[in-house]
Amino acid sequence: MTVLTAAPATGLHGHVRVPGDKSISHRALMLGALAKGTTTITNFLSSADCLSTLEALRALGVPITYTEQQVTVHGGGRLKPAHVALNMNNAGTATRLLMGLLAAQPFTSCLVGDASLSKRPMRRVSQPLAAMGAAIDLDAGHLPAVITGRPLKAIDYTLPVASAQVKSAILLAGLQAAGTTIVREALPTRDHTERMLKAFGVRLTVSADRQTIALPGGQPLIATPVAVPGDMSSAAFFIAAATIVPNSHIRLPQVGINPTRTGFLQIVRRMGGNIKVTPLESAGEPLADLEVTDTKLQPIDLAAADIPAVIDELPLVALLAAHANGVSHIHGAEELRVKETDRIQTIVSELRKLGVAIEAYADGFVIDGRKTSPITDAHVDSHGDHRIAMMLAVAALVADAPLELHDAAAMTVSYPDFLTDLERLCKGDLR
Ligand code: S3P
Repeated sequence: MTVLTAAPATGLHGHVRVPGDKSISHRALMLGALAKGTTTITNFLSSADCLSTLEALRALGVPITYTEQQVTVHGGGRLKPAHVALNMNNAGTATRLLMGLLAAQPFTSCLVGDASLSKRPMRRVSQPLAAMGAAIDLDAGHLPAVITGRPLKAIDYTLPVASAQVKSAILLAGLQAAGTTIVREALPTRDHTERMLKAFGVRLTVSADRQTIALPGGQPLIATPVAVPGDMSSAAFFIAAATIVPNSHIRLPQVGINPTRTGFLQIVRRMGGNIKVTPLESAGEPLADLEVTDTKLQPIDLAAADIPAVIDELPLVALLAAHANGVSHIHGAEELRVKETDRIQTIVSELRKLGVAIEAYADGFVIDGRKTSPITDAHVDSHGDHRIAMMLAVAALVADAPLELHDAAAMTVSYPDFLTDLERLCKGDLR
């Protein structure tokens, strides 16, 4: 049990360089493995999820040198059979993307995961891959997945759910397929795979409305250095903290501001939040320095079209809504039900303990920020979900009593040093 305490009256001050982006770190390893030549990755996210990808690729015969400063992938385009099951632990992105990558490799692989990952739906990936010619066996739609790679044919596929993981799995398979693979999405999801494929020398086209991607198969990847930007989804916890803790002013240098990931910035601004974005020069993904000052918040209404660009930050939107002067409605977020936990359920159960007036919808929640009452139960629980754990640590800063957080260790999945960095901002150590 980790004890979380309130922020000092002087608020949060100083700066934190948030760790590298999780989505981009996974992709850099995988594209590096497929590429000819040596890929160096800087600011790689050394968290449990990304290390699961790294170990899986090593087991598939890819030589990878790892230090906290730099990861070097000695690619070659050919993977070798792993003679053990690949343990993906909690990493959903890694699992789904690897399924796409392995679907064309001429051997059988087995992917397993922890209890949470083993409950998450995998048919959304196995079905389109099977239509391309891969043989994938699941256990009633879940891990373990036994993947036998086959020669693949291209597919023209319309995503039934807004999911960058599914899109990316199909693109990784399409890259190794005969013909041009087309993926259509109604709502744009994060496009790191498309951008990184281009950086590795692959030709693909994205339509002007950003809804259709066409990828001719059989193209070689050429190794290229990848500088991973700071993770917007990690920065979001500090943005939320500095917004709701009075007398705060913080800086977050070098955060990725890919437009498919900045939904949270826009939402906080729509709620009245005070965030200054100073764009920086960068060769790859767009980058900026962020500066955040505390403010009083208004409520917000979100619908399906708002969701993909803020999908991982919705626990924080709930927390901000609990501090807003009115009723917020979040709809169109049913994908939260199949994340690391059923996040609608875990957000509602944990915030209620903190006195928040919150009700679940099938596809979201409603929160009346004017009706927040004192804590009813100081024992909160991450339920093993890294983003719920960190949201609760931020909630503790404005709680009227210390909180005891069960399973704080879940944070290691995406941000192992989160509590240390939060504490530094509370102490104003890095002014
Ligand atoms: C991710 C995509 C999102 C997101 C996840 C990372 C990715 O999942 O929630 O944390 O790196 O592609 P979905 O695409 O399944 O919504």
